Order: sequence, then C-alpha cells, then structure tokens
Amino acid sequence: LVLESKDISGVAKYIDSEECQNVFLMVGAGVSTAAGIPDFRSPGTGSSILPIKCEFLISSSCAGMSGLYANLARLDLPYPEAVFEIGFFRENPRPFYALAKELYPGHFRPTISHSFIKLLHEKSLLHTCFTQNIDTLERRAGVPGDKIIEAHGSFATQKCIDCQTPYDGEKIKHAVYEGTVPKCEECGGLVKPDIVFFGEPLPDSFISGVSKLKQADLLIIMGTSLTVYPFAALPRLVPDECPRILINLDEAGDIGYRSNDVVLLGPCDEIVRKLCKELGWEEELVEDWEA
Ligand code: OAD
Repeated sequence: LVLESKDISGVAKYIDSEECQNVFLMVGAGVSTAAGIPDFRSPGTGSSILPIKCEFLISSSCAGMSGLYANLARLDLPYPEAVFEIGFFRENPRPFYALAKELYPGHFRPTISHSFIKLLHEKSLLHTCFTQNIDTLERRAGVPGDKIIEAHGSFATQKCIDCQTPYDGEKIKHAVYEGTVPKCEECGGLVKPDIVFFGEPLPDSFISGVSKLKQADLLIIMGTSLTVYPFAALPRLVPDECPRILINLDEAGDIGYRSNDVVLLGPCDEIVRKLCKELGWEEELVEDWEA
C-alpha cells in the first residue's frame, strides 16, 4: 500500500511525502453547496435541481422557496434536465436564462474547499483541477486558469448557437440581469454561454487534459455524484497504484474498490479542514478563505 492508513491522517502523510508531486482534483456541485449554490442530485434535501421531479417543483410545497427553486417552479419545465438540453433551449431559452440569473458568477463566494485547491497550488502540488461546475469559484478562489479544466464549460464566454459568432460579455451580463434573452447581432440566433448542455461535446481542453491523468500521484474527488459521463470515467484513468480519495457526503462511482482508495464521507469543507490541520496548513487555509 502507498498509504500508511486509509484515513485523514494517512492521506495527510502521503501528501507530505516525496512521492506526492502531482495532485489532480475532480470536483462537482458539492464543493459549492456551502456557498449557497444547490447541487443537482442530493436526494431528499429539497436543495437539489435534477432529482426532484417537476411535479414537485411546481407543487405548492415550493411556494415558500426562494431563488432558484422558485424560478424553476414557475418555468413549467417538462422535466428538470430540460433546462440544460440544447434541443429544449432552442425551443424555449427562457428557463435557462431565469436559472442563469440565479447562478451568474458574482453572486457567490468560494468555499473552504475552493481555498484548499488554491492552497495545493501554492504548495506547488496542484497539477490540474477538473471541475464540472460552471460557477467559476475555483478561479475566484485564486486557482490559476491554466490549472483548471472546466469540463462543462463556464459563463466566461458566450456565442450564437447558429452562426457561432462570439457575443459581448458586458451585453450578456446586462441581458441576464434584465431577464431578457440575448440574440446574435449577426444572424438573430440565440446566444448561449459556453456551458456544455446535454447533447453537446465537451471542450477541447477536457480532451487534452484527460491524457495527463496518467501522471497523477494523487487524485482527490470532491463533491460529485460521479454520474455524468465522460467526466465520471476520469478516476479510472489514473495509474492503478495512485491513491484516489473521495471526499463527499455519499459514496460515488467505484471509489473504494482499489487498494489505495480512501473514502472520507461528510461535508467537504469539514474534511478538508481536518486534512489541513493534519498537514499544519489550517491557519493558512482559513486566512485565505476569510481574505
Ligand atoms: P450532483 O448533484 O450529481 O452530486 C453532488 C454530490 O455532492 C452528491 O454526491 C452530494 O452528496 C455531494 N455533496 C453535496 N453537498 C456536499 C458537501 N457540502 N460536502 C460534500 N459533498 C457534498 O452534482 P455533480 O456530480 O456535480 O452537468 O453533477 C454533475 C453534472 O450533472 C453537472 O455538472 C451538471 C449536471 O447535469 C451539466 O449541466 C452538463
């Protein structure tokens, strides 16, 4: 075994060792829930987007909810995933733009888990952070752009879905805040942020980043249900002996099946903080997060 023990202390010792040089991260919605952004699939909490059936979303039990749920509830979606489907967007872009208003970067601040990723970078350990999130909180936490692969795109750029002409960043921001749907100035087509919708290919950066996983000495997976492919296949691409650490509220994927897998169940901010305490990094972590 590469790890002395399959717990926080064992992981900390490994991170502190000479063997651990190239740390890869894979993160999902769970790293941003503490920032107030709901995840997609947490069952039974009423704080997720996708698992809840639309009947629930439009039921009276949503009446008292604010923000995102209330917006989705008002939008009369045939099913929740439709909001991220390119075919549905073509027919009716309004639900997406209503959601975009809630999720638009700027409303939220990074979590302790995001600061942890930045700290790994500062310690020269971070190789690449693959994120499924479109909230850009990794960047806002100070992780350099060249270390982040936004596998499902982000709100950073946008273009026409017909003629692909890029659209101005300030103009789309204005449209989102005004609650209008931006149209291409060349052809009148719908403008969409470069977020990957169901039915669209992943960015080239994802494809090129995947091959680097064979260099991993450590893979940390945080806050993802590992249900959406091809992202969910990434943990299989690190070398067999590479420790894979899952930090999540629930079990996910096949993490736990390899001999050097460690599953740390619980809120990621709490676990990351304990891990940093073991490493003697807690003060730096908290200072950075509070800054
Ligand atoms: P999910 O909602 O599927 O999963 C979030 C995971 O994070 C769950 O396993 C939760 O238990 C866990 N979680 C929630 N809060 C947590 C916390 N504070 N600490 C630790 N774990 C926590 O979200 P993703 O896996 O990110 O794609 O979803 C993947 C993709 O599905 C998204 O990128 C999106 C969606 O369809 C597209 O829009 C293309």
